[in-house]
Amino acid sequence: RSGAPSPSDIRARKGGAPLVCLTAYTTPVARMVDAHCDLALVGDSVGMVLHGLPSTLGVTMEMMILHGQAVRRGLDRALMVVDMPFGAYEEGPEQAFRNAARLMAETGCAAVKLEGGVAMAETIRFLVARGVPVMGHVGLTPQSVNALGGYRVQGKGEDAERVLRDAQAAAGAGAFAVVLEKIPDPLARRVTEALPVPTIGIGASPACDGQILVVDDMLGLFADFKPKFVKRYAELDATAREAIAAYAQDVRARRFPGPEHLFGAAEPARVSAPE
Ligand code: KIV
Ligand code: NA
Repeated sequence: RSGAPSPSDIRARKGGAPLVCLTAYTTPVARMVDAHCDLALVGDSVGMVLHGLPSTLGVTMEMMILHGQAVRRGLDRALMVVDMPFGAYEEGPEQAFRNAARLMAETGCAAVKLEGGVAMAETIRFLVARGVPVMGHVGLTPQSVNALGGYRVQGKGEDAERVLRDAQAAAGAGAFAVVLEKIPDPLARRVTEALPVPTIGIGASPACDGQILVVDDMLGLFADFKPKFVKRYAELDATAREAIAAYAQDVRARRFPGPEHLFGAAEPARVSAPE
């Protein structure tokens, strides 16, 4: 782990070269992310991306720990952050500390992320004072989808002040960086100027101190999920569908397995017609 930046190293990159961040949920993808990113997030998006859940609300501590352990084995150079799942920290600082400590002890992550600004400031302060580095997350906070009434852009018009206050509260409580999700570009710029710690944008602004995306989204692993803020760097869904269709055709036509895949089989020449 010698190569990984610490949360304070990440904080010190405020205003510097953009921080490159992606999610990861498995060891092989963590290895790919590790080669190019400053920070790997085991996001609770894992529930929707890999487990077919309709929202992040059903994600459990056990899921975060299992995926965290898998990601840990694939990282060497990137800072590892694990999301606190819905219900694991909102009761109060003690509950949050108990679950954050469990995530750190059982996965080896260096920091946790939790959603909320003003309402979570006391909890963030409590964790940071006890050795748990915390990444904040404001703007669109998917664990509050029911309270927010959907996954809409946050901080439009007068609502901008709320998002700014939330970001300032998270940073003021000691968060080493703050994710800004799905807010207008001008607001993300304002928040980035106002905060003493890096802002990490997703659906926010190129002016943020860093960017993050869900790795499966940017790899194009979904045919049916194309939000405006995701740039697809590959179309792996189409590639995988074509590969599976070709396999199915080969099996049905007895083209697979071929001679090169067999053990101790008769030579094709011996079973073919004489010259
Ligand atoms: O769970 C997640 O993937 C996240 C990022 C999108 C910030 O919280
Ligand atoms: Na998340």
